[in-house]
Amino acid sequence: MSLLLLGRWSDAERDRWLSLLQAELPNEQWLLAPPSNAADAAAVEAAIVANPAPGWLAGLPNLRLIQSLWAGVERLLQDATLPVNVPLARMVDPAMNEAMAQTALWAALSLQRGFFDVQAQQLRCEWRQPAQPRAAEWRVLLLGMGELGGRVAAALAAQGYAVSGWSRRPAQVDGVSCLHGDAGLAQGLAQADVVINLLPLTEQTRHFLDAGRFAAMKAGASLVNLARGAHVVEADLLAALDSGHLRRVVLDVFEQEPLPQEHQFWRHPKVTVLPHCAAQTDPRSAASVVRANLQALRSGAALQHLVQRAQGY
Ligand code: NAP
Ligand code: GLV
Repeated sequence: MSLLLLGRWSDAERDRWLSLLQAELPNEQWLLAPPSNAADAAAVEAAIVANPAPGWLAGLPNLRLIQSLWAGVERLLQDATLPVNVPLARMVDPAMNEAMAQTALWAALSLQRGFFDVQAQQLRCEWRQPAQPRAAEWRVLLLGMGELGGRVAAALAAQGYAVSGWSRRPAQVDGVSCLHGDAGLAQGLAQADVVINLLPLTEQTRHFLDAGRFAAMKAGASLVNLARGAHVVEADLLAALDSGHLRRVVLDVFEQEPLPQEHQFWRHPKVTVLPHCAAQTDPRSAASVVRANLQALRSGAALQHLVQRAQGY
C-alpha cells in the first residue's frame, strides 16, 4: 500500500514535508502526484493533503483516511468529488495552537496599549502618548472556543485580560466568561473591546461578520480576524471603520489570497494586514501528528481530530 502526499506547494516545500514524514514513517511507499493509473490508485491507503485541488482525491478505491495538514477544511469539504465515506481528519497540533496564541496576544496587547497608533505616529514624527487601559479593564471576546480559540482564551486570561468566549455549544473554561446562542453573542459583542475571530468557515459562519454584527459591537472596539477571510463582509467592515464605529482591524486572512495589490485594505490607515501567517502548520511537529493517526488507523484505535462533515468542521 502507498501513502499519497499532495499539496499546492513548491517542490522545496513538498520535499521538506516528505523528508520529515519519511523520518516519522520509514519504510512507506510514497506517491507525490494524483495517481495516473488504476494500480497506483488502488494502492493508496491514506492521503496526506495540504489544500488539495478539487478532484485530486477522487477515484481511490482503497482510501481509508484523508489527513489534512491544514486545521481549516472548508475547501476540502467544498470538493464535490471528495470520497464521502472516508474519515477526514484535520490538523490539530500544540505548536500551531501556541503560534496562534502568540499572534492573538500580540494583536490584543498592541490594541490595548495603543501601539498600532504609535507606529503610525512615527511616520509623522509625532510624539503623543496613547491611553493605556490595564489588561483587566480590557475585554477580549473569542468567537470560537475550539483548539485555537480555547488556547488563545487561556493565554489572554493568563496575561490578566478580561476574556469572554462564544461557541456553538455551552462550554466551561476556567477564567473565561463562556457564552453561546444569540443572546450570548449579543452580550459578548456589546461588551468587548476587541473581538478575535477563530470560528471555522461553515455554511453558518460564512459572512458572519457583517454590518449588523459590527453595529452590535461596542463603539470604538476593534476586530482581529485570524480564521478565514470569508467570515467577513469586506465592504461592511470598511464602512464600519470609515464611520469611526470600529477603531481598527487586524486581518490575517482574506476572501482572495494573496490580497490583490489594488485592495483598499493594504493602504487603509485603520487596517493591519498579515499574509496568512497567524499560525502556519509546522511540518516538524505536524509530521508526528500524521504518524499518530496512521498508527491509529492500522491498529484499529480511534482516529484523532475527525471532522464532523455534517457540521462542516
Ligand atoms: P475547532 O477546534 O473546530 O473549533 C471551532 C470552534 O468554533 C468551536 O468552539 C465551535 O463550537 C465553534 N463554532 C463552530 N461553528 C459555530 C457556530 N455556528 N456558532 C458558534 N460557534 C461555532 O477549530 P480550530 O482548530 O480552533 O480552528 C478554527 C479555525 O481557525 C479553522 O477552521 C481555520 O479556519 C482557522 N485557522 C487559521 C489559521 C491562520 O493561520 N490564520 C491557522 C489555523 C486555523 P463548539 O465548541 O460548540 O463545537
Ligand atoms: C491555516 O489557515 C489552517 O487552516 O491550517
